[in-house]
Amino acid sequence: MRVLGIETSCDETGVALFDSERGLVADALYSQVAMHADYGGVVPELASRDHTRRLLPLIQQVLDEAGLARHELDGIAYTAGPGLVGALMVGASTAHGMARALGIPVLGVHHMEGHLLAPMLEDEPPAFPFVALLVSGGHTQLVEVRGLGRYRLLGESVDDAAGEAFDKAAKMLGLDYPGGPHVARLAETGDPGRFRFPRPMTDRPGLDFSFSGLKTHTLTAIRELEAAGNLDDQARADVARAFEEAVVDTLVIKCRRALDATGLKRLVVAGGVSANVRLRERLERETDKRGARAYYPRGRFCTDNGAMIAYVGAQRLLAGEHDDTGIMKAVPRWPMDSLEAPAGT
Ligand code: KG4
Ligand code: ZN
Repeated sequence: MRVLGIETSCDETGVALFDSERGLVADALYSQVAMHADYGGVVPELASRDHTRRLLPLIQQVLDEAGLARHELDGIAYTAGPGLVGALMVGASTAHGMARALGIPVLGVHHMEGHLLAPMLEDEPPAFPFVALLVSGGHTQLVEVRGLGRYRLLGESVDDAAGEAFDKAAKMLGLDYPGGPHVARLAETGDPGRFRFPRPMTDRPGLDFSFSGLKTHTLTAIRELEAAGNLDDQARADVARAFEEAVVDTLVIKCRRALDATGLKRLVVAGGVSANVRLRERLERETDKRGARAYYPRGRFCTDNGAMIAYVGAQRLLAGEHDDTGIMKAVPRWPMDSLEAPAGT
């Protein structure tokens, strides 16, 4: 089955073609990051308009790369949520319009299910069951995954997501949006011994996260340095390092607990923050120590992309799921544990 995947939930227009027999055939991405950078964050109306401009040419590019004509598609998958409603509607209406014109099934896919299963596109994909750490700009969740649509939420952030915390820390340090990669780069020259920031919610049992206290702590540290006239480049790097260490340590501690609680030996790490090198190194060490293994998507599939949507869409379309004709879905808030396994599986 040849499935076109469309991702437009935030500031990345992603399109890909997944063939259930050949695997991923083509993928293309247009990032709006530069357009939103001046505003320090994503401007929803600008995002929707830009998706409208980019989507059709990207679809054509992917079809050309795959050497396929439109009528050779067997299904279309699009991100139906969660995300920015206007941005979601661009993908949803395009997908439904194309599917109706071509007379093929169409399916709205959950964005986080896409991130969760993105490592399935790699050469050595994880087998079910596994524990997944989903760390993006909007979500921080630990999920027990038993199969497609069989998800049990083990814990999640009670306030800011890990990526959001990186973005806010970056802003405080005068770095560009999205801040994660900039904070990580600055942290490389930071002294890990100069400051120690708190590891929130690790002093009590449980698998939930909280990053807003860490944000306040970071702001206070920066203000104190500034007031003392000590906020030089080295101090900024030291703060970035202390912040990154605190987030990474917190995520590693909770992953260890989730593996203990479930008795599972496979850990999937996905979402934008999974691109963080220090997080990967620490998780690698942790899983090695316990005879477990960590799985990640390739770098460009850690952040938003069309490939993960095409993949999930293909699995669910193959199982017989599809949207009702003409009823497109755009769901800004959509809890992932409301997802179900395809009927009869
Ligand atoms: O999954 P994603 O592309 O979009 C959402 O669905 O949110 O994740 C984007 C988030 C941003 O907050 C960004 O700062 C963060 O992922 N991020 C990183 C790194 N690369 C991206 N955070 C820490 N270290 C990185 N290397
Ligand atoms: Zn995402």
